[in-house]
Amino acid sequence: MPNATKLLQAEAAGFDRAAEIWRTGGLVAFPTETVYGLGADARDDLAVARIFEAKGRPRFNPLIVHVESAARARDFVEWSDMAEIVASAFWPGPLTLVLPLREGAGLSPLVTADLPTLAVRVPAHPVARALLQAFGGPVAAPSANPSGRISPTEAAHVMAGLAGRIEAVVDGGACPVGLESTILGLANEPVLLRPGGVPVEALEAALGQPIGRRAEGAALSAPGQMRSHYAPGAKVRLEAEAPRPGEMMLGFGPVEADLNLSRAGDLTEAAANLFHHLHALDGMGAEGIAVSPIPETGLGRAINDRLRRAAAPKE
Ligand code: TXA
Ligand code: MG
Repeated sequence: MPNATKLLQAEAAGFDRAAEIWRTGGLVAFPTETVYGLGADARDDLAVARIFEAKGRPRFNPLIVHVESAARARDFVEWSDMAEIVASAFWPGPLTLVLPLREGAGLSPLVTADLPTLAVRVPAHPVARALLQAFGGPVAAPSANPSGRISPTEAAHVMAGLAGRIEAVVDGGACPVGLESTILGLANEPVLLRPGGVPVEALEAALGQPIGRRAEGAALSAPGQMRSHYAPGAKVRLEAEAPRPGEMMLGFGPVEADLNLSRAGDLTEAAANLFHHLHALDGMGAEGIAVSPIPETGLGRAINDRLRRAAAPKE
């Protein structure tokens, strides 16, 4: 285990250093457009095992593999016409595809938790792209937070959660999208496994067909979708009009609040602020957080999904 986690700058020397750490089995957290990921060489069993250890993540919860391009993704999964349509429309970007794992793909079985499918994505963030290029291989990366906590959208969040357990963090500033990728299952009929940075409406428009929703309780289709997740220390109350005594208010729209996701009621801005504000309210020692109602459309679905998990009783 490393004892001091290095903060690397987002420049050529930092990218080379990060790639070198990955090549020698180490862990490097890095920015993507969604959230910071905790990366390791996806072909290296020991390195991947260390991701689970550093996060305290259950082994049955598989990881997303990050690659430079759709062409590289095809080295690891069975491609399809539908995959081609959505990949050309949304990659690079905040979309993860779950497809049948290719035989002989050469990935650590820990990455897929022995499932016959693989989650793969091509990130758009210039720092993530530069790192993947410098490394030249597949990078397995979950969000860079201790399991069950709020995902990090800044290098400082990663440090607060994982310092001393990982070799380095590449500092790329705040993540522009601010919540995780949308996960689309394409191993059978298209199914939404997790709402995220690409609205499901946009996927349906590209595919020209409706996308099924994962049935509540069908846990194994997205093993990581535990009900309580993204949890701040404070108790979260949703659909609130005003704070109760002891609560701090997280607003949306023109309301009085301690912090506001978007005074203008803009869902893109709200998504970018969501984890940032939850981290901040947690840091202020809020006992309770009351959250304004958020419309259940476009990115609002992903925001509400994360808020409902934050509000769920801890398991
Ligand atoms: O935006 C993101 O997706 C970020 C950045 C770093 O890329 N990553 C991320 O990873 O959110 P993580 O591990 O926090 O969430 C990945 C989710 C988990 O719920 C996991 O269960 C699911 O993807 N997943 C991974 N492989 C899967 C598979 N083969 N089938 C179904 N779900 C899978
Ligand atoms: Mg996560």
